[in-house]
Amino acid sequence: MTYPDSFERPAKSLDLAEAQEELLWLNAEIARHDQLYHGDDNPEISDAAYDRLRRRLRALLDTHRQLRSDVENQVGAAVKTGFAKVQHDVPMLSLGNAFDDQDVHDFMQRIARFLHINEDVAICCEPKIDGLSLSLRYHDGRLIRAATRGDGTTGEDVTANVAHVVGIPQKLQGSWPGLLEIRGEVYMRKDDFAQLNERLAQDKKSTLANPRNAAAGTLRQLDPQMARQRPLHFFAYGAVQASGLPASQYECLQMLGGLGFAINPLTQRVHNVQEVLTWYHQLRTKRAGLSYDIDGVVYKVDDQSLRDRLGFVARAPRWAIAHKFPAEHAQTKLLDIILQVGRTGAVTPVAVLEPINVGGVMVARASLHNEDEILRKDFRIGDNVIVQRAGDVIPQLVRVVHSDESRAGPFQFPTRCPCPLSTELVAEIDERTGRKDVVKRCSGRWACPQQKRERLIHLVSRDAFDIEGLGPRQIDLFLEKDLISDPADIFTLEQREKQGCFEPLSGWDGYGETSAQKLYAAINDRRRISFVRFLVGLGIRYVGVRNAQLIARYIPDLDALRQASSQDLLTSKLMEIDGLGQVVAQSMTEFFQDPYSDRMALDLAAHVQWEQAETSAITDGPLVGLSVVFTGTLSTMSRAEAKSRAEAAGARVSGTISAKTDLLVAGEKAGSKARKAQDMGVKVIDEQAFVDLLEADH
Ligand code: IVH
Repeated sequence: MTYPDSFERPAKSLDLAEAQEELLWLNAEIARHDQLYHGDDNPEISDAAYDRLRRRLRALLDTHRQLRSDVENQVGAAVKTGFAKVQHDVPMLSLGNAFDDQDVHDFMQRIARFLHINEDVAICCEPKIDGLSLSLRYHDGRLIRAATRGDGTTGEDVTANVAHVVGIPQKLQGSWPGLLEIRGEVYMRKDDFAQLNERLAQDKKSTLANPRNAAAGTLRQLDPQMARQRPLHFFAYGAVQASGLPASQYECLQMLGGLGFAINPLTQRVHNVQEVLTWYHQLRTKRAGLSYDIDGVVYKVDDQSLRDRLGFVARAPRWAIAHKFPAEHAQTKLLDIILQVGRTGAVTPVAVLEPINVGGVMVARASLHNEDEILRKDFRIGDNVIVQRAGDVIPQLVRVVHSDESRAGPFQFPTRCPCPLSTELVAEIDERTGRKDVVKRCSGRWACPQQKRERLIHLVSRDAFDIEGLGPRQIDLFLEKDLISDPADIFTLEQREKQGCFEPLSGWDGYGETSAQKLYAAINDRRRISFVRFLVGLGIRYVGVRNAQLIARYIPDLDALRQASSQDLLTSKLMEIDGLGQVVAQSMTEFFQDPYSDRMALDLAAHVQWEQAETSAITDGPLVGLSVVFTGTLSTMSRAEAKSRAEAAGARVSGTISAKTDLLVAGEKAGSKARKAQDMGVKVIDEQAFVDLLEADH
């Protein structure tokens, strides 16, 4: 996932146009991750990273109140086909999150404020089971329908697959005339998950990432026979749509237990925030010993009539909150520190650990960030260390447990890259601060095998060439067989196979006739490609989607780019682009001045044709063909707005004045640019004249 540049800036500092642009990205990204998580059971990012996207969305909407988001009130993802669709009469919502004790205090205070009361309210505390939610409908005591959450409004009918789920009665104990709808969580126990994975591994099938994914996959198996072979369990956590329910959550759960549902035995009713937190901290110590995964706890206002008053905000109830667990820790031995080289040559030290179970996941490697971190925390090979894991993120080393006399010497960070080139590792100097970068780099580029691997993986990734069926595993395979080395080689694979240069792909392990054909078709599909994707694919440092789009607006194809480079004009040309900084311009220039990189780009381009760019130039409007520069503060619109209005009118907007500038729009306090423009004979107009020009057409 590549974050837009604005993402790291405080939401408040973004103007409306920037916020709008980032919001478009956020909407798409959140919808995509919702689909991956809920729809495909195949999440790509950690829960923490997802929460960060959601928080950012909230912050943008809070600071720019005129903006709206498609995904703000959506929960989960649209349903997969294959199952009948089910409409939830009462939507299946999500929960707000608390991450620390203060958030819990705030939650309790919010409730008291909202209800205008001074005393504490009773809270039902429940473990938050890490599975997937299910809605069960009973009519006259018989199960008539089981449905997944789906997007919160429409789920999937999985009735056939819950017949053997432990904790779901097909028939209620005792009588319950009419309708009763129960909500709860389906999960797979940790030991059942381990056994299932063992079986899958024996059968040479791909194993599952965690019990939650296993439960989701099982429940949504189209073949109920298959679902039956994988043991699932259920905990009920609430009832909806029924009269005659107890007026308290805690008692409601006891009642559900009496009807034959499994209810979680750790649930407790407490009476103030101190008791809430005590319960939470007690449960944390029990977590590792539980037979199932929990990812936090849920606090719910116990009294139903208070809940009715509290109601909902957007996608979550005001009367409940999930309190997430912090990262899990474990102690193990640091066996070695090795170096990993990334796509741009950045060298990351990685800790090799004696494998250890951290919160249910075996961990053998952990990130060490950089040399400074190793020195600061004084990690030495042979030390006992604390390793931490939060959600699905890469495990990290936290600290050394204790050190004794017999410790190895301080870790000596290698001065040379571990790659066969053994290039000298250098820390760059940050031009702005003048300080040495904490990251060291290998300058081997394509000649460093590790960098080459990462660069090829990047080339075929989603934002670049996006070749379906070609990911890290396949790249590794082709590299291992020495069939690809440069990007262009991907496009000659099929032809080389036909010429008998290697054993046909269809005969390889893991491939058949269809999958081989599919791969070649996916590659051929990309012989037409936008210059933006092509540029992203080259893996030039600092040139992600956003910068590539900016560049491609002004430089239409590789020929134009290389021509500017050969005349030493590339940096200055790029610097004219508004929004593109010097660092990017220099990085581009450096890339194309390197004969190998330049050749590689040219070779790759020989296999593709340019597709019409996604941002096609505007050919009509009062400013068509003019190069416009803004300076000073505008009073009736923001700079971003002025820029987009000028572009909509056909202008090219640049950040610096050059001989090619046609017009300088000078606002309040216009400084050196206005003087420079006058010196160069460039026409200078004020804001009002600019607005008049824009409206000249009307
Ligand atoms: S109550 C409107 N209670 O957590 C509130 N949810 O992040 C509905 N979950 O979709 C949820 N254990 O899948 C509730 N004891 C519990 C839970 C629980 C797990 C899941 C559930 C829900 C998600 C919300």
